[in-house]
Amino acid sequence: MKSEVRIAHRVSQIPKSAIHEMTRLSRDVEDVAFLSWAKPTSGTPEHIGNAAIAAIKDGLVGGYSENAGLVRLREAIVRKLRRDNHIDANVSQLIVTVGAIEGLAAAIMAIIDPGDEVLMFPPTYSTHIRQVTMASGTPVLVPTIEEEGFALDFDAIRKAITAKTKAIVCCSPNNPTGTVYSEGELRQLAEIALEHDLMIITDEAYEYFVFDGLTHFSLASIPELRKHVISCYTFTKTYAMTGWRVGYLHADEELIPQITKAHIPFAICAPVVSQHAALAALEGPQDCITEFREHYLSTRNLMCERLDKLDSVFAYQKPRGSYLMFPRILLEEGRDSTAFCIRLLKEGKVSTTPGVAFGPSGQRHLRLSFCVPANVINTAFDRMEEFYRHRT
Ligand SMILES: Cc1ncc(COP(=O)(O)O)c(C=O)c1O
Repeated sequence: MKSEVRIAHRVSQIPKSAIHEMTRLSRDVEDVAFLSWAKPTSGTPEHIGNAAIAAIKDGLVGGYSENAGLVRLREAIVRKLRRDNHIDANVSQLIVTVGAIEGLAAAIMAIIDPGDEVLMFPPTYSTHIRQVTMASGTPVLVPTIEEEGFALDFDAIRKAITAKTKAIVCCSPNNPTGTVYSEGELRQLAEIALEHDLMIITDEAYEYFVFDGLTHFSLASIPELRKHVISCYTFTKTYAMTGWRVGYLHADEELIPQITKAHIPFAICAPVVSQHAALAALEGPQDCITEFREHYLSTRNLMCERLDKLDSVFAYQKPRGSYLMFPRILLEEGRDSTAFCIRLLKEGKVSTTPGVAFGPSGQRHLRLSFCVPANVINTAFDRMEEFYRHRT
């Protein structure tokens, strides 16, 4: 009898993660200059770790918390959302989640039925695409306009809407392009959502990393949109808390009990020790955010300067936020971004992420992370200058 593991189509159709694949391949390259991860390189600020240690010592972390998260933490999040996002939130509109990712997954699971179409604007974070696929929804990719800094293409968005369109996933500041949608653009998106009765799920993971005088705008601050938006946030980037796995989701309080039904089978609650750490992050000094932002701004500028010298190999749109950018590969071999990045890794000792991982319009591009020390950027670009010297 044939014995084979039967994997559900909703999972088997998902391609392998290019980011994890590049990480795996990078392990075999000695002294690699690593620009592949969207993970802050700074450690978590000490006072946050100390709060977690104190919570452990006080015996506060051995049980579950409320499914929606510790009340004190939710109260601190309410203050943050009012102050920084201009969202008139209250504790019954929040769920503390296992990073932004679990909030996004729970939101998508709660609102997407099989066959529902979900609009996304690539190049964009591929996990969103996978989450919709896992919910048996249909991701509908509406490419952004690269020459305008990967701006939203409103004509194409309107044309892509069908009777099956249920939701929009909107990621600003964007991974991988670093684009920050303006308040005007987001208000236009809000109008479309209201006109067609669509939900908008936001991923605001990089909300604090915005440069050049731009500001981050949260759709949930628009009162009329209230019942149409689920906003996902995280401590991962803001406080360099990647491994703590804690974030939160804000939605209208009528939606919260339904989203909680999706949150419980995934997580029951976010890790309690991390919730105590998150509370300390919100209640403690906030200067680490400014320090991180200044560091990313300086590494963004350095990366752009180094790219300017490689202008026969790459053309780029300057990222206005996040700590990622998405240059176009001008060389013919960039037609296959995966082969291009693997070759650059194996022969040039620089680890990057193939653009095709962020949707088909990402082909001919690669993603570079500037959440690294300046010397890593300089080493990577010294190597690339050498590597491409004879190829252009
Ligand atoms: C746009 C975006 N959303 C979400 C995440 C994951 O966030 P978390 O660690 O909070 O789950 C990432 C991580 O790289 C990201 O880039």
